[in-house]
Amino acid sequence: MTRKVLLTGDRPTGQLHLGHYVGSLKNRLALQESGEYDCYLLIADVQALTDNFSDPQKVRDNVLQVALDYLACGLDPVRTTIAIQSLVPALAELTIYYLNLVSLARLERNPTVKSEIAEKQFGGGVPAGFVCYPVSQAADITFCKANVVPVGVDQLPMIEQTREIVRSFNATYGDVLVEPEALIPSDRQSQRLPGIDGLQSKMSKSLGNAIYLADDEKTLRAKIRQMYTDPEHLRVADPGHVEGNVVFFYLDVFGSDAAAIAEMKEHYQRGGLGDVKVKDYLFELLNTELEPIRQRRAEYARDPGAVYQILREGTEKANEAAAQTMAEVRAAMRIDYFG
Ligand code: TRP
Repeated sequence: MTRKVLLTGDRPTGQLHLGHYVGSLKNRLALQESGEYDCYLLIADVQALTDNFSDPQKVRDNVLQVALDYLACGLDPVRTTIAIQSLVPALAELTIYYLNLVSLARLERNPTVKSEIAEKQFGGGVPAGFVCYPVSQAADITFCKANVVPVGVDQLPMIEQTREIVRSFNATYGDVLVEPEALIPSDRQSQRLPGIDGLQSKMSKSLGNAIYLADDEKTLRAKIRQMYTDPEHLRVADPGHVEGNVVFFYLDVFGSDAAAIAEMKEHYQRGGLGDVKVKDYLFELLNTELEPIRQRRAEYARDPGAVYQILREGTEKANEAAAQTMAEVRAAMRIDYFG
């Protein structure tokens, strides 16, 4: 029996934040620890370039930042192969073949791409590479025949599109590729962590409402102090609202002492519990969880050369896996001319 394969990835466009952490990184870590999978992590610089093509330095810098975030969280290069997308040329090759198996109309219907296009407002028209990035993501997922793809809910349309491409490839050329399954966090509240500014928008770098894994203690405290609570809760003695209150939302996601949190909610609603008290409680909780991550990150950051070496070795391993799949793909597609 061969082991199941797990693959996921991130665009290196910024440091990873708490939304990534609860929505995906924690899940990956647990899956790595389970020992059930061959794990791959792809730093998707090619995909990042589809909407940052004019800012290559930003993408380059963030490859290192994302690698640091992975290592800081405890993703372990011995058990998880960490690779750089652009240095696995088979991904570009697969993308070209897969492009024949999907219609432009289907790509334009992809809900994630659609909302991203609306959000980004590309000045000179939408780059073809951007519309097609789900196809390149299908290449990412299939080059190592991944069975499972742990992602956030926003990525479900990508996995669906990949499954369609796999079915089409296998029906057209023969059974070579594996149809992957998405793995999303079971806790609904973790699936979409709101930013510190209110429940209406999710945490994101572009909205400036994120808490980063790399934030130091002082920054973390300041951001929690800024968190949106209940605008009508003016005096400590006033009764306050727990619904719509970011601090309580975070306590539900990150807290482990359910009884203490339930009691705080009750006290807050009754009146007599100040925002600062609840925020300080949340700070302690988050800081305890983030402190070891922060420390590990700082250690790795001291030696970027060693981090690049980890990426180099991971990329080599990914290329070996890709070579195997490509041999089968080429044979199935009748383009294995020289055997
Ligand atoms: N599109 C993903 C995101 O924006 C990143 C990504 C690239 C990815 N390739 C992948 C995720 C392969 C899962 C599998 O977060």
